[in-house]
Amino acid sequence: MASVLLTRRIPSSVLGLLEAEHTVDLYTGDGAIPRDELIRRVRDKDALICVLSDKIDGELLDAAPALKIVATIAVGYDNLDVPAARRRGVVATNTPDVLTEATAELTWALILGIARRVAEGDRLIRAGGWKRWGLDFMLGMELRGKQLGIVGAGRIGRAVAAKAPAFGMRVVFAKRERNGAAPSANEMSLDELLVTSDIVSLHAPSTPETRHLINKRTLARMKRSAILVNTARGALVDEEALAWALSEHLIAGAALDVYEREPADQPLLKDFENVLLVPHLGSATRETRTAMAELAVRNVLAVLGGDAPLTPIP
Ligand code: GLV
Repeated sequence: MASVLLTRRIPSSVLGLLEAEHTVDLYTGDGAIPRDELIRRVRDKDALICVLSDKIDGELLDAAPALKIVATIAVGYDNLDVPAARRRGVVATNTPDVLTEATAELTWALILGIARRVAEGDRLIRAGGWKRWGLDFMLGMELRGKQLGIVGAGRIGRAVAAKAPAFGMRVVFAKRERNGAAPSANEMSLDELLVTSDIVSLHAPSTPETRHLINKRTLARMKRSAILVNTARGALVDEEALAWALSEHLIAGAALDVYEREPADQPLLKDFENVLLVPHLGSATRETRTAMAELAVRNVLAVLGGDAPLTPIP
């Protein structure tokens, strides 16, 4: 039997799979495990199952010399120092694929919600402010015939794109680096995508290259009628620049699931009526969260059993 530290509660059916084979040390506190407690509790562990709010770096890995695997319950792994794990022979895994559809669905919820002012209307009624029905009352943007610009044509970006025909939207992708291969017909430069799209939806990973991809300069390239959607990572958007662009009416609105600081109140953005804010819910369906936890557990069971991980971080 090996010992596994789990930094969040997971569904009991999935926990059972792990407990059948190994000793589990489960952090049961609300929210993120404090850093010092994480380092203290991981010391004697063979495996760590963590989430995106747990920072896994060289210091933590050095504190846990027996660790064989870090399995994050997320597809994004910007909280993990993967090269540091690799140098120490620690396998790192994530949970791709199982959350693709849930995240694509949430992206569409944001696109529809911001385009048709759903949360704003809800706020209006709750505040007792609904006094009239008018031909010009709370008009939004119709999606049919508009262009959806996808930045990051990975699994989630493509799943979002796949649903666009149902709304009569055409899709373009930001051109990817592809070693000389010719771009496909619906690829364009990021600049051209920003200039021509009605909805710009971000699906790229958070890396040093994508940090503040959306900034004052790129926001100024967007149409004044365009909407920015981010279900990827907060670091992709310079939120100060976004607040500036909104206050200057350089874009029509934004719908965000991810932020530069999480969890937090979003003081820069929360006073804009034309901003839709949800608290990092991309993969938050019962089905998907269970599947993510199960994939993380199966990665741990595989590695502790001497097999290859199912979904190693590339
Ligand atoms: C969630 O944000 C994830 O990366 O899985």
